[in-house]
Amino acid sequence: MKRSSNFRVLKQKGIGISMLTCYDYPSAKIQDACGIDIIFVGDSLATNVLGYDHQNDLRLEEMRHHVRAVARGISRAYLLADLPYLSSSDLPTILSAAEQLRLDGVDGVKVEGFRPEVFEALAKTEVEPWAHLGFTPQLIKEPAMQAKDSASAEQLVKECQALEAAGAVGIILELIPESVAGRVAKTLEIPTIGIGAGSSCDGQVQVWHDLIGLETHVYRHAVRLCDAHKKQTSAVEAYKRKVVKKEEF
Ligand code: KIV
Repeated sequence: MKRSSNFRVLKQKGIGISMLTCYDYPSAKIQDACGIDIIFVGDSLATNVLGYDHQNDLRLEEMRHHVRAVARGISRAYLLADLPYLSSSDLPTILSAAEQLRLDGVDGVKVEGFRPEVFEALAKTEVEPWAHLGFTPQLIKEPAMQAKDSASAEQLVKECQALEAAGAVGIILELIPESVAGRVAKTLEIPTIGIGAGSSCDGQVQVWHDLIGLETHVYRHAVRLCDAHKKQTSAVEAYKRKVVKKEEF
């Protein structure tokens, strides 16, 4: 049985599916212990952790290194990883990257954009393919709402249906109107996981650094529930003060 079939059950029961990006072992342990359903090594690893200007600069070896660290921190959650842009040019490269990520511990890989042939090929392997439509950071430069008019909304719904038919086990919908996301969720059997797509998706995903407030910039669709940047800064400042004054700890 597919590991992702559990998410279809949650969808049928109307129970929201929780997903968070994750890039390291300690954060994976926290997320796993808190019951996050899908722990996702997104290619935002490149900008949030490795200091690149763009996620498309991420190399497969770098993704694999972090996937292995996250895998070590998980005992129950589903582990999903982004297929890096640099490994997504053609089918043999994609299949080889997906297999390497599987060996590192992933249950599924996420592929951005409308590429049914990739889903058909991946569906025959042991790695479960997840789709990502709407705003796709690997393919569209600036974050902006997608599928705003009825023609592009119609096209998005059709593409989601086609990717489900091609073997996608779930679909991430980023920055699309709630009404369109609701239509997609209704028409598909596989779960839809939204970010900036309203609450009618079957689940939600957020970027870990946004959620805990490690980033100083805040995207419009980011949910911030903590201010880790402020807390870390004051801890480091306090430490520095104590060391300078030769105070005891
Ligand atoms: O890499 C990432 O963080 C993502 C999420 C925004 C879904 O793809």
